[in-house]
Amino acid sequence: MRILVAGGSGVLGTRVVNRLVRAGHEVCATTRRADREPLVTASGAKPVVMDALVADDVTRAVEVSAPDVIIHELTDLASLDFAGNARLRVEGTANLAAAAAAHGVEHLVAQSIAWVYEPGEGPAEETAPLARTADGAAAFPSVEALEEAVLGLRNGVVLRYGLLYGPDTWYAPDGDAYRRAAEGEVVATTAWTSFVHVDDAAEATVDALTWPAGVVNVVDDAPAHVEEWGPRLVAFAGGSVRSISARAEGRTASNARARSLGWTPRHPSWRDSWLEEFGA
Ligand SMILES: NC(=O)c1ccc[n+]([C@@H]2O[C@H](COP(=O)([O-])OP(=O)(O)OC[C@H]3O[C@@H](n4cnc5c(N)ncnc54)[C@H](OP(=O)(O)O)[C@@H]3O)[C@@H](O)[C@H]2O)c1
Repeated sequence: MRILVAGGSGVLGTRVVNRLVRAGHEVCATTRRADREPLVTASGAKPVVMDALVADDVTRAVEVSAPDVIIHELTDLASLDFAGNARLRVEGTANLAAAAAAHGVEHLVAQSIAWVYEPGEGPAEETAPLARTADGAAAFPSVEALEEAVLGLRNGVVLRYGLLYGPDTWYAPDGDAYRRAAEGEVVATTAWTSFVHVDDAAEATVDALTWPAGVVNVVDDAPAHVEEWGPRLVAFAGGSVRSISARAEGRTASNARARSLGWTPRHPSWRDSWLEEFGA
């Protein structure tokens, strides 16, 4: 297939591109930065310079790559810019979906998050209610906007990834969460957490090219509370616990649907894989 990976220069995007190229697909991958074109070329894809917030850029990227399918791995999290990331989810996704539709591309696979669910009993299936604020508004409005834009296409697939860990992520030894843990502090987005190894997330994304339209949780088999994983992270990072907290209670997610579609995580439990990752 001809595939455009929006955000193909990122931590996850690069892993997805590598796998697509190895599988024999013809891949174009985007970056905003001309100086990153060699990095994209080295991953086996054709670079396309695009700012997702500029509609004309996105239209041109879709024109030149003429894809059968678009994979959306755009985030603005490398510098922990959460407001910028929310804007990218809303405006970048809208631009991508509009350019796709205008060029007859109805197949879009996009990154979302698995910690969107309203607190409840046990791991959430994809149909479970999404979190609301006290006044009933969406707790993650930009995520809901992203998902709505993707699912508006005939073959839109939303992947709700768990919290990524593994090389190059926030939980790698040079990552932000690990660095904080070394100082004894863990602040989880939601207390109930589902993790996924970054390589498993990339693998699921390639598998998702053959999945039907809809939403799929991409998480490991080992949902856990921050009171369990927080102290372990601190210990791996060589710190001693000062404070473990979470911004919200949240709910873990079930991977039953992803597994039923044929995805099998190579790292089914963070409990085992953290030992490998951190060499402890
Ligand atoms: N589920 C999760 O837990 C989760 C999800 C995502 C990220 N993260 C964390 O965030 C960190 C960064 O990972 P990442 O792969 O998402 O980020 P990244 O490595 O910075 O990749 C983001 C991608 O989006 C592109 N991008 C950003 N803003 C753009 C814009 N306005 N227009 C076009 N392209 C744009 C970047 O392109 P450029 O080459 O132009 O920068 C890059 O290709 C990781 O360490 C990871 O742990 C966690």
